[in-house]
Amino acid sequence: MRSAPTTAPHSSSISKLCKFAVFQQTFDIPFCAPGHNSQAKEAAFLRDIFLDISLNIRTVDSSIISITITDREGATNVYEAPTDMNMNLMEVCKAHELPVKGTCGGMALCASCHVYVLTDHELPEMSGDEEAQLDQAFFVKNNSRLGCQLRITPEMDGLAVQLAPESE
Ligand code: FES
Repeated sequence: MRSAPTTAPHSSSISKLCKFAVFQQTFDIPFCAPGHNSQAKEAAFLRDIFLDISLNIRTVDSSIISITITDREGATNVYEAPTDMNMNLMEVCKAHELPVKGTCGGMALCASCHVYVLTDHELPEMSGDEEAQLDQAFFVKNNSRLGCQLRITPEMDGLAVQLAPESE
């Protein structure tokens, strides 16, 4: 059995207490006034742990978006992508071990990260470098983009893309 902690962190924040009330109902935790006895101290201790977890979960959730990617075999999967790590779509594909080479390292010089955008998300305008590279690439369509030029942002949540065929 778990022993009661000797010291319990206290929170004076009303909003935190309100959030804990939701946790209490969700997990059926009996309420004890902080500082009343050792059981109350343990309850306060658990309350703060739950609050930390809930705040951390919300922080993590808010920086993760979902992107649907169809590979060259036609398999479609939804992948998570962080918006707070300065990653681009090519790097997300590589991180999920999709067959995207990213040969030039994201310099818009190889088109090995060529994708077709399947949704009508508003994406950043193409730079001159991206346009120039796509002018020389194979299998280019109206919805072609270079994955390495698409920085992951919260607005891209729900984006769907398809990997273009390999040109070599
Ligand atoms: S990785 Fe080379 S153009 Fe995108």
